[in-house]
Amino acid sequence: MPKEIVVVGPGHLAHAVVSRWLKVADVKIQVLARSERYLAKGWTPEEESLVTFRADALRRAKLVVLAVKPKDMADTLATLEEFIPPQALVLSFAAGISIEQIHNAWPHHGIVRTMPNICSEIGCSVTGATFSDVSAADKAWVMELLNLLGYVTEMPEHLLNPMTALYGSGPAYVYIFIQSIMQAAADLGIPDGQSRELAAHMVKGASEMALNDRQKSLAQLVDEVVSPGGTTEAMLKVLVQSGWQDILRQALKAAGERAIQLGQAPSPA
Ligand SMILES: NC(=O)c1ccc[n+]([C@@H]2O[C@H](COP(=O)([O-])OP(=O)(O)OC[C@H]3O[C@@H](n4cnc5c(N)ncnc54)[C@H](OP(=O)(O)O)[C@@H]3O)[C@@H](O)[C@H]2O)c1
Repeated sequence: MPKEIVVVGPGHLAHAVVSRWLKVADVKIQVLARSERYLAKGWTPEEESLVTFRADALRRAKLVVLAVKPKDMADTLATLEEFIPPQALVLSFAAGISIEQIHNAWPHHGIVRTMPNICSEIGCSVTGATFSDVSAADKAWVMELLNLLGYVTEMPEHLLNPMTALYGSGPAYVYIFIQSIMQAAADLGIPDGQSRELAAHMVKGASEMALNDRQKSLAQLVDEVVSPGGTTEAMLKVLVQSGWQDILRQALKAAGERAIQLGQAPSPA
């Protein structure tokens, strides 16, 4: 019998994860909604058939996935407390919400705090996970589920906030990077129809080299692209002059600080 999973909150990340698990995991999934706003978030008719407004769906759950915004977490934990069965495990995606905060509301459950990203949808997430009061067998099952979303690594809880900033938010800055390349491509005469493919494949190729060519440092990989007086050198000069790496570092630092704030006070996320 497939184990039952109830995902609370039919938002963007829930959609990515549920659509992936539906394809590759041997589980039964329901998705708990509180409004019809989820209809704008890309659910197919088949996926939509999993959505329910009945909180008592939780009563049969082996795993309850909390996929709500940090600002909604306290209300969600309070509202659903009466429905969660004693044996259920809890898995949270919420940025900045600590295991202790969840444990204070639901003290009798094993808790897994995770930070996947939206690339879960195609099994290409990077996911950090911290386990608390989870048996070895349950941990193995949850790791199996997370592995289906992409690369997963266990880590101490204090690293999950930086994880959120760097890799949870990360796909967004890669998309912006690709968009900037596409804008430059348009300026340089590359047709619109080709520039997204070209930029995305280029990022994919460079990423594969960074992953697979481990005997070379990233500086060496850069060096291999630069020829004296060439195009890469011209580009790097502008990037260095504009302080691009510092700007990126500041942006990621701001994301890291925001991840910490999100767990501290209810505020718009
Ligand atoms: N998006 C990402 O790439 C990403 C990456 C890493 C981590 N996360 C984390 O994942 C969580 C979800 O993010 P998201 O971007 O997917 O948010 P989202 O699109 O805003 O989705 C949140 C969903 O939760 C629903 N919800 C809130 N309280 C509920 C309750 N008590 N019962 C049922 N549904 C409830 C909301 O319904 P309404 O529409 O009615 O408000 C909404 O559909 C956040 O905690 C975020 O930190 C997201």
